[in-house]
Amino acid sequence: MKTTISQAPQHVEESVRIGAWLANKRSSGKIAFLQLRDGTGFIQGVVAKNDVSEETFRLAKGMTQESSMYVTGKIVEDARSPFGYEMQVSDIELIHEATDYPITPKEHGTEFLMDHRHLWLRSKKQHAVMKIRNEIIRATYQFFNQQGFVKVDPPILTGSSAEGTTELFHTKYFEEEAYLSQSGQLYMEAAAMALGKVFSFGPTFRAEKSKTRRHLIEFWMIEPEMAFMDHEESLEVQEQYVSFIVQSVLENCKLELHALERDTSKLENIKEPFPRISYDDAITLLKEKGFEDIEWGEDFGAPHETAIAESFDKPVFITNYPADIKAFYMQPHPDRPEVVLCADLIAPEGYGEIIGGSQRIDDLKLMEERYEQHGLTGPAYKWYLELRRYGSVPHSGFGLGLERTVAWLSGVEHVRETIPFPRLLNRLYP
Ligand code: 4AD
Ligand code: MG
Repeated sequence: MKTTISQAPQHVEESVRIGAWLANKRSSGKIAFLQLRDGTGFIQGVVAKNDVSEETFRLAKGMTQESSMYVTGKIVEDARSPFGYEMQVSDIELIHEATDYPITPKEHGTEFLMDHRHLWLRSKKQHAVMKIRNEIIRATYQFFNQQGFVKVDPPILTGSSAEGTTELFHTKYFEEEAYLSQSGQLYMEAAAMALGKVFSFGPTFRAEKSKTRRHLIEFWMIEPEMAFMDHEESLEVQEQYVSFIVQSVLENCKLELHALERDTSKLENIKEPFPRISYDDAITLLKEKGFEDIEWGEDFGAPHETAIAESFDKPVFITNYPADIKAFYMQPHPDRPEVVLCADLIAPEGYGEIIGGSQRIDDLKLMEERYEQHGLTGPAYKWYLELRRYGSVPHSGFGLGLERTVAWLSGVEHVRETIPFPRLLNRLYP
């Protein structure tokens, strides 16, 4: 019977046939151990000389890494393997013999692995990270569907910029100038006025000259936007959502977290509510922690975020940043117009900002003033102003960066390993 590795537990003591690749191999005298993978998982195939034909044993012993095959054998329980099962191989049909696979079990440098990303994805570690990414995506749809949000797809080609004009990828749109979207937010605000609670999930592009372990040029963002919701209510949605995806990964990715040697004790207590610290208090905390030069009004860099996160064992919201260092659309604080109703959510363990969000300005006059200050003119922004002209309501939203969240939950150092084909400052290949 044809099956897959992930289905093997349903076939204990049965003989099954699986299409697989050889990930690794050990053999000695009368026995060969094949580390098999089929995309759904990894299993050890044991080939004993006495149990198979001479031809099959010769094939097993000579099998090269990444050769493909159909392998037939009996599934048995095996307490020593993290998967809990192995296969006693009875027959092998070689499909394709791979020669000189470049990624050997020895250590390779990062640049070499990145140049072979199309093959590197097959490794056990990369497989685990991609499965965790998939689980976060699955849990995201589950969470927002359960909460009554409608999925809306904002355009990728746009004429307006949400987060500032310096980081845009320009492209020709026939005779017009267009950009690749850096955030779907402005369109999601329009969608929220039509559908109430909405979320988007799509690729975004930032022409940032940043070369850090947290920055990609192309990354995926989940952007919920909610009508009739203030900043406080939005923070509650955020902490519930993040808790839900963490608990889903813990529940459904046990083998993957094990393969990555992730210390899951650090994830288990990630449940709402999350702590909140104001920007003002964060400045005081940073000064206490030895960042004596930081002044009120300055933005935080990665070292600041990491130092703040160290004071908490859960993700922490830094709230009410100075208006001057945040985007034009953020609602001023009612008592202190120099700060805005916004928050960044900082992940623990040095993974940095995973969410940026805010309440949006809903007053037409105030938004017009902001347009003036930021020089936002032209037809591209006309429609956004009209959202404040016709039945404007308080509304809030946020954006969660998928890759930084994958990095945090997987425990991988750099976001380049959290997306199948990373786009980095110096990398467009493969
Ligand atoms: O803080 P950002 O820039 O917020 C926005 O774009 C808002 N318009 C979202 C909204 O309110 N709808 O980006 C949101 C998140 C960040 O917190 C971070 O997780 C991620 O997107 N992000 C990046 N991830 C990888 N590489 C980059 N270059 C990123 N820039 C932002
Ligand atoms: Mg941000």
